[in-house]
Amino acid sequence: MKEIDPARVPRHIAIIMDGNGRWAKKHAMGRVLGHRKGAESVRVTVRTCRRIGIRYLTLYAFSMENWLRPEAEVRALLQLLQEYLDGEVQEMMDNDIRLVAIGSLDSLGDPILTTIREAMERTAGNQGMVLNLALSYGGRDEIVMAARSMVGDGLAGIIRPEEVTKELFARYLYTTGLPDPDLLIRTGGECRVSNFLLWQLAYTEFYFTDVLWPDFRERHLLEAIVDYQKRERRFGMTSDQLTRT
Ligand code: IPE
Ligand code: IPE
Ligand code: MG
Repeated sequence: MKEIDPARVPRHIAIIMDGNGRWAKKHAMGRVLGHRKGAESVRVTVRTCRRIGIRYLTLYAFSMENWLRPEAEVRALLQLLQEYLDGEVQEMMDNDIRLVAIGSLDSLGDPILTTIREAMERTAGNQGMVLNLALSYGGRDEIVMAARSMVGDGLAGIIRPEEVTKELFARYLYTTGLPDPDLLIRTGGECRVSNFLLWQLAYTEFYFTDVLWPDFRERHLLEAIVDYQKRERRFGMTSDQLTRT
């Protein structure tokens, strides 16, 4: 495999970590074991991204629609998240990683909410990489939430309609302060967005792989980055315009 160019790694990688259930089925295990195995891929991926100089890593860990899964699976997923945070915050400190989270976090309830808040506070000063977990996250929900608070500010006289721009709108989103993803990876073979970062993916490069999330390892991530580095991001312009600058 061709090596990645360390000078041109994506600043922000977002990952839809899909395929835990199918991995479990393939190995004649229950779905929850697939999720547990997937947590190992999260550890590997975070470590690799930090090592190769990715500045922002966003992981889709639990979608708004995932609340519709059987209660036992939802409970197990939240339990795994709790275990992950309990086990990893020290590693985040050791590796200068700052934890943030996006989504309807309040709906997670305690004790997870407190664990997340404490982990965010503890790691707030870290500068090496931002690890952003999308939890109870939905892209349309996020846009509606932003519109709602913007209307509130409008009625309160804080903003006027003519002041509403793309930049201002983005400040009302959960992702305020984070750059848009450069590369979106989806494992598990499905080619869809599943309500992830609908606003932020406007000019993101997409990479789909059949590898199931629990099988995802460093080489798969590097393959995705090599593929990304072969692409020309034109942002609506012509190729000539880009090479001339
Ligand atoms: C991704 O794996 C994990 C979450 C959505 C939380 P899935 O559980 O969706 O796995 P498949 O798609 O059923 O294989
Ligand atoms: C997307 O996977 C959500 C996460 C990875 C957290 P899903 O498995 O929920 O997506 P669909 O239902 O196949 O679109
Ligand atoms: Mg799935």
